[in-house]
Amino acid sequence: MKFDFDEIIDRRNSNSVKWNRYNSDVIPLWVADMDFRAPEPIVGALRKALQHGIFGYPGDAPSLRRAVAARMDKLYAWKVDPDWVIATTGLVSGFNAAAAAVCKPGEGYLIQPPVYMPFNDLDANLGLVRQEAPLSEGLDGGMLSYFINWDIFSSAFDSRGARTTMFLLCDPHNPVGLAWDRPTQRRMAEIAIGRGSVIVSDEIHAELLLDGAGHLPLAALEPAFAERSVTLVSPSKTFNIAGLFCGFAIIPNPELRKACQRAQERMTLHVSGLSLVAAEEALSGSCDEWLSAALAYMRANRDFALAFIRDRMPGIAAARPEATHLLWLDCRSLGLDNPAEFFLAEAKVALNDGAAFGTGGKGFARLNFACPRSLLAEGLERMAKALEGRP
Ligand SMILES: Cc1ncc(COP(=O)(O)O)c(C=O)c1O
Repeated sequence: MKFDFDEIIDRRNSNSVKWNRYNSDVIPLWVADMDFRAPEPIVGALRKALQHGIFGYPGDAPSLRRAVAARMDKLYAWKVDPDWVIATTGLVSGFNAAAAAVCKPGEGYLIQPPVYMPFNDLDANLGLVRQEAPLSEGLDGGMLSYFINWDIFSSAFDSRGARTTMFLLCDPHNPVGLAWDRPTQRRMAEIAIGRGSVIVSDEIHAELLLDGAGHLPLAALEPAFAERSVTLVSPSKTFNIAGLFCGFAIIPNPELRKACQRAQERMTLHVSGLSLVAAEEALSGSCDEWLSAALAYMRANRDFALAFIRDRMPGIAAARPEATHLLWLDCRSLGLDNPAEFFLAEAKVALNDGAAFGTGGKGFARLNFACPRSLLAEGLERMAKALEGRP
């Protein structure tokens, strides 16, 4: 077997937050990284850099910007000029810097909760007004599903007494696992741009497509969208190198690009040289065979977990993710105040508390299935037993 995703690698001896936050009898299915070793070409490139033994300040590598542009062309036929690319210390830094560049204190930024936790923090970080267009819930073939109610979306702009200067989009969406389709992206973009907002599109999960469903950067749809967009991409989730902290902002509009660059400089955000080495290798295509195999493995994990939950934990409704390695679990009918707390105490399984994802998250939990199947199976079994053992 070329890639062994069943192998259990001891991460407790590393400084992994996922594996060291809780006691050693807990199975950690929370933080969104993978328990798989990163692809060998990346490890090899890092090894080579380590052997060189000098870790001075890195420069602004044109070859890396070209690698980002080439990846966009290969995946989406999106013609990106390498000059549009800025390296960032990860995407959370990227969207914080973009918000600082685009929004003045007191202005609004719009999100679609429940959504990745740090999306909910820009108001506190930067003195902005958080404006929310919560996703709507439905049921699709017995599965939890999400969609955009366009009245809710449109009326969230300029709400809470502030002008919306930035729409922060999560595409694919964490935690609900949707990769937005073209008509939806187009409609969001037309409304946001029509209301005078810049779109910051966090596409960190773009290559984690479990069903091969097509993702396209929103900015690639129309030059007019590109002109008003910051597209954030990264190989970090795709190739399990998130702890190296490296991402890229693609910003075709020169004024917007300069403003984002200035905001990064003001925040003194510097990208690590080793992360640049890893990113360039990751983007080169040398790890794509690993990625196809990892996606097939994670797809089977998803289907295994969904079948298990349907059969053994019918009180939980799961959303079926088409992208990401994350399962969003509606535990509200179980009558638990905090399902993650319950499963930690009673099943010794660590999940993320849905409430941390903002509006619409309370009573939910998020489970990360990017791990060896045996670990996932053991975690689910423990969860089912904990529910069966309730009075
Ligand atoms: C939507 C989204 N953006 C950003 C991140 C983290 O980005 P980074 O580690 O590059 O700051 C995550 C991690 O789970 C995420 O889900």
